[in-house]
Order: sequence, then structure tokens, then C-alpha cells
Amino acid sequence: MRQAIDSNRETLFFHLEDSLMIGELIPKTEKSILVSNKVYFCYLDGIVLNNLKDIFLINNLILTRYLDRFYFLFSTERLEIKQEIIDVFFEIIALDYDELIDVERNISNINFLLNIIIKDQNSFGSLRILDYGCGTGLSQQFVRNGLEIIGYDRCPIMRNLSERRGLQVIDDEILMQIKDGSFDAVFASYVFHLFSNTNNLCTVWNKLKPKGIFIGNFHKGKGINVVDFFRNELKGEVIIYKSVDYSKIHGEYFGFRKK
Ligand SMILES: C[S@@+](CC[C@H](N)C(=O)[O-])C[C@H]1O[C@@H](n2cnc3c(N)ncnc32)[C@H](O)[C@@H]1O
Repeated sequence: MRQAIDSNRETLFFHLEDSLMIGELIPKTEKSILVSNKVYFCYLDGIVLNNLKDIFLINNLILTRYLDRFYFLFSTERLEIKQEIIDVFFEIIALDYDELIDVERNISNINFLLNIIIKDQNSFGSLRILDYGCGTGLSQQFVRNGLEIIGYDRCPIMRNLSERRGLQVIDDEILMQIKDGSFDAVFASYVFHLFSNTNNLCTVWNKLKPKGIFIGNFHKGKGINVVDFFRNELKGEVIIYKSVDYSKIHGEYFGFRKK
């Protein structure tokens, strides 16, 4: 794990100690604290968790747990920088991502999402699908004749790793150039729970064909407010998938159909 520590370190420690007392959180090893000039998050390893909530407030600070062992600490007055924190976070952990997650679990989620799409589109022809927030390209193994998957991710290192895995990958610039209505479906595996901005959802929605669907899981029910955006701003028809077994592991599944 790479480190980037700057002069804000002392302040960060102070806040963290504060929160530890409140949060029943016992750090054994402080691995790294990563700071950019605007955002910061803390990485602790070997933590004993004792009924610790995923998110809690300390004065005007929010401490959010992510991937079980990462803690984002940021001010409630600066919620708009959440995407920046996420971007910095993924740039730093990209190379370690597959070791930090349960790869099989994400693959099973992607498999489930693809099965929904295949059933929904009831297509005997070929399907062209966008993997929105493709990460390290775990969806590559599902590419086959008649099932084209194209990865998109905000993070350049993630895109690079996906490409190395053999997934066809696009960035924002290429996404913009793609003809409207080009995709039969879009899926987002373990992405919506991170969501703070809906900036490019409109662009992605335009690339979806009429009657196409955009589906994703909402891990631990987080990010569910994006459903309103699909319904109200994009005028999508909201579909709830009642897949109890899978939902217990991956969170609720929602789909949005383009009219
Ligand atoms: C938890 S990973 C999931 C990766 C992959 N889909 C999987 O299931 O393993 C989340 C990914 O979403 C990307 N991401 C973060 N914010 C995003 C946003 N606003 N729009 C699209 N992708 C985003 C991150 O760069 C990261 O690669």
C-alpha cells in the first residue's frame, strides 16, 4: 500500500482519536493516512469492530467505513467533495483492489446482473452491454459470442487494469462520442453505494436504446437516492428485483427502463 502523508497528519490523528472513543473502534496498526490537498481518508488495519456503524457523525465530521477497513473522514460542510475522495481512493487502491475484495462475490453479482439483462432483453441476437464502473474488469470472463461487454470507469488505473484483463474499455471522451442508443443495457456492480454525483448518468442514459435497462445493486441499501434521479430526471421506469437470496449478500437490485 502506497503512502502519502502531509502536514495535516496531526490534525487527522486528533479527529480520529476523538472518533475512536465514540465508535468502539480499536486500531491495532495504522497502515497509512492518505491526503491530497483537498481531501483525506484514513486507512487502518487489524481493526476490532464492535457493533460499529458504517457511518457516524462526530461534530461536523462524517466517518464512513468502506471495504471494511478503510475510513473516510470528511466535513459535513464539504459533502460535495465526496466524489473527489472516492476518486483519490480508487486511484490509490486500484492495484490492490482484487486482493482487498472478495473477488468471487463480485463475480457472482456481475453474473446475476447479466442474467437479469439477458432474461429481460429476451434476445436471440447479440447484446451490447456497458459495465458502468468496471473496476479491474471482472466482467471480462462473461464476454462471449453474442455478449459484448464494454467497460467504463472514472479511474484511469482501473481502466488500465481492465484492459490488461482483456476487457474493451472506454473513458469519458469516448463515451461522449458513442452514438446515442448504442447499448442494450448498462449494469453497475458495487458502484451505486458510492454515488454522490449523477453528473454523467445523463450521458450514459442517452447511450442506452429505448426499452433498454440500466441495473445495479445497492450494497447495504446505500446510494438509494439515485433511484429518484432515474425516475424523476431521466423518466425511467423503476423495476425492483425481489431476489431475496442475492439481495442479502449484495444489497437490493433496482433496474431503470428507458421509455
Ligand atoms: C467497488 S468498485 C466496483 C468495481 C466492479 N464493478 C466490481 O464489481 O468489482 C467501484 C468502481 O466504481 C468507480 N466509480 C466511482 N465513482 C464512480 C462514478 N461516479 N461513476 C462511475 N464509476 C465510478 C470506481 O473507480 C471503481 O472502479
